This record gives sequence, C-alpha cells and structure tokens, in this order.
Amino acid sequence: MENLDGQVAFITGGAQGIGLSMARALVHEGARVAIADLDRDALDTACDELERRAGAEAVAGFELDVRDREAFASTADLVESRLGPVSVLCNNAGVRLPDSLPELGYELWDTVVGINLDGVYNGVQTFLPRMLERGGAGHIVNTASAAGLATHPNSSLVGSSGLTYRASKSAVIALSEALGFDLKAAGHPIGVTVLCPGLVGTNISSNSAVRGGATAARREQAKRGDAMLHEVGMDADLVGGMVVDAIRDDRLYLHTDRDMAAAIADRSQALLDAMPPPDPGAETGDPR
Ligand SMILES: NC(=O)c1ccc[n+]([C@@H]2O[C@H](COP(=O)([O-])OP(=O)(O)OC[C@H]3O[C@@H](n4cnc5c(N)ncnc54)[C@H](O)[C@@H]3O)[C@@H](O)[C@H]2O)c1
Repeated sequence: MENLDGQVAFITGGAQGIGLSMARALVHEGARVAIADLDRDALDTACDELERRAGAEAVAGFELDVRDREAFASTADLVESRLGPVSVLCNNAGVRLPDSLPELGYELWDTVVGINLDGVYNGVQTFLPRMLERGGAGHIVNTASAAGLATHPNSSLVGSSGLTYRASKSAVIALSEALGFDLKAAGHPIGVTVLCPGLVGTNISSNSAVRGGATAARREQAKRGDAMLHEVGMDADLVGGMVVDAIRDDRLYLHTDRDMAAAIADRSQALLDAMPPPDPGAETGDPR
C-alpha cells in the first residue's frame, strides 16, 4: 500500500508502547486510526493524544480483549461504522511472562498463547474476510518477536523471554509467512508484514505481570525488566515509522535491529546439518 492517507487502521495493543508508536506514525501519514486495548486508562490517554494530532473524527478507542472473538467481531462493526472500512490491520497486543524451567503451568501457557497467538489469529479471522470481500488493497502487520526467530542460546533475548513466549512468537512468524504467501499466490492485493522487534523500551514486563496475576516479587522483577528495556532497548517511537515503511514497501519481514543474526544463522545451519545426506541416486537418476 503506497498511500496511507485516508486509509483506516486498526491496532491491537495500541494504547502504549510499540502499538501506540504505530498509531502515531499512521496518523502522521493521514490514516484514520482505531486502537484497541485492555488497559482503559492507557487507552484514554492515548486517544486524547492522537485526537490532538489528528482530530476526534480520525481516532477511535475500544476496550477489547483480543482473546474474545465475539467482542472482536462487534468491535470491528463499530470501528467500520465510525471510521470506515479497515484496510490496515495491526495485530500487536502481546504479553511477555517469564516461565523458565521448572516454572511451567497450563494457566500461564493459556494466557500467553491466548493473547500472543490466538489474539493475532482472531484479528485475521475478524478482518480478513471483510477485506477480501471488498477487494481493495490492504495490509496486515503481525507483531511477533526476534525471540521467535531462533530459540537458540546465542542471543540476549532468549534467556529473558520465557519458553511459552518464544513458542507463541515463533507461531506468529509461521502464521504470517503462510498468510502472506497464500494471499500473494491467490492474487489478493493484501500484504503481510511480520514485525520481529529486538529489545524495545516499553513497560511490557510490568504490563504483562498485571495480566499474569503476578506476586509482589514478580512485579518488582518486572519493573527491573522494564528498566533494562528502557536502558538498552530501542526508542519505541522509532518502530512506528519502520512499520509504515514496511507497509509501503510490502515487506514480509521487519526487524528492528541485527541482534539475532548469529542465532538465525546457527539455527539454519543446525537444521541443514540434521538432514540426511543427499541421496546420490537423486542426481544421477539411479533409483537405489
Ligand atoms: N518491547 C519489546 O522489547 C518487544 C520485543 C519483541 C516483541 N515485542 C512485542 O511487541 C508487542 C507490543 O509490546 P510492547 O513492548 O509495546 O508492550 P506494551 O505492554 O507497552 O504494549 C502491549 C499492549 O498490549 C495490551 N494488551 C495486553 N494483553 C491484551 C489483550 N488480551 N487484549 C488487548 N490488549 C492487550 C497491553 O495493555 C498493552 O497496552 C507485543 O506483542 C510484544 O510481545 C516487544
């Protein structure tokens, strides 16, 4: 999508952090923007700010839990009746909860996978049929993580991210790739970008701890996690502009840095090394 002026974007987890950065960047391009989030206070603050930038008629905020499929569908109806047909969908809401061994649990798995993976699928299932039926150009941005690119030990992201988090984000990458390839193969003018941020300065650890019902000790740990992100991570406000560029250029993969390069190379090599040796008969036509 080369021109975002006048388009309507829907962004989950848009009340703060990376999602709000996307909203700011899209508004800057002249898009009308709906943000959806669980955090009512953050949503109100973000809407006030976006309205000051773009005018009240160009912005809408919705309290939504991305795990709630019925609420997703009714929110889509409301957004489209207020702002017009959604052509840019950003499935960005996410939580990051640490669950290193031996602290595993079904509840934590259901929370993390429910928000990070099912939430993305729910967004696609809600909006893609509407986009396809209308037939115009569109774009879907799914936020995964660099930690989902390679669950190899060769990265600072891996240790701090949690097993469930990495699994959910790997699945978002696979879903986005499959969706992007299938839409292209079928000739639909709808692009897909999977955003794989490295470390970005947001309060994701504390926000996630609230969702995960953390103990006081865990909340303190989360605060330290956020302090680290703000210290070493990229400024969250830079990510929105990168997303706009990726939509314009119809890029499938969007990285915010190169920190995972060695881990991706190691993983790819390990996968190739694990394959059986090439069948000599395959090249010569000998059926041995
Ligand atoms: N910050 C990083 O270093 C980093 C790195 C890689 C990936 N990410 C991903 O980027 C995305 C945005 O994270 P962020 O860092 O901006 O964190 P953030 O906490 O600032 O923003 C996430 C937003 O999602 C909302 N949210 C959480 N659960 C929700 C639900 N069930 N329904 C609706 N909204 C919900 C939160 O209220 C919050 O506003 C996430 O998917 C995260 O996994 C972040």
